[in-house]
Amino acid sequence: VEEAGVRAILGAMFRPWICSGWALVLGACGGGDGSAAVSRADGPAERAGANAERRSSLRDDLRRALGGSYDEPLAFVDEHLLARGERAWELHCSACHGLSGRGGTTLARALPVEPGDLADPRRASFFSERAKLWILAEGSAGTPMTGWKEALDERMLIAVLAHMRTLVRPTPAGTEEVGR
Ligand code: HEC
Repeated sequence: VEEAGVRAILGAMFRPWICSGWALVLGACGGGDGSAAVSRADGPAERAGANAERRSSLRDDLRRALGGSYDEPLAFVDEHLLARGERAWELHCSACHGLSGRGGTTLARALPVEPGDLADPRRASFFSERAKLWILAEGSAGTPMTGWKEALDERMLIAVLAHMRTLVRPTPAGTEEVGR
């Protein structure tokens, strides 16, 4: 028992360090081990606040880890690949995110962290495309969003991201920078 306690304390101390820099790129922190601060026991407002904080610190970590490549564009996706991306979205993602990307499915509402509205232009531009690719591959730690790199290769993940871009609602004129 004592030993487990020490390990838990060490884990808590070193996790922030482990989850930055290259360890992040190598996937040491992906997959969601449920240790993040977002908890079903909190009320909806606390959960939303904790999730916003979680996303911000994940973005900071990814900016640090990806460095200059954070804003690099992804490979071109032709129509054929885009159609495959759409099928993969329907098959693997829509149960939680909804076909439209807005979430709100029965499964989504039962999750400890509810998927946000991925069709909202402000949310869609919060992470860069490279950052989203990382999240798709490795998962979003502390949430039910697991990594997909074992099921889908990078080309397919890029195809799914291309499909996700088609779901985003047009940005109202003059508000392009909101949420950046
Ligand atoms: C088990 C339910 C579930 C499945 C299946 C799932 N996701 Fe997620 N996803 C989530 C949750 C929960 C989050 C984190 C909550 C949030 O949106 O802030 C998330 C977050 C994301 C994010 C980050 C969004 C952001 O702005 O924070 C992206 C991108 C994403 N998912 C894409 C996908 C794709 C693509 C697939 C299919 C390959 C997929 N998800 C499958 C539940 C799921």
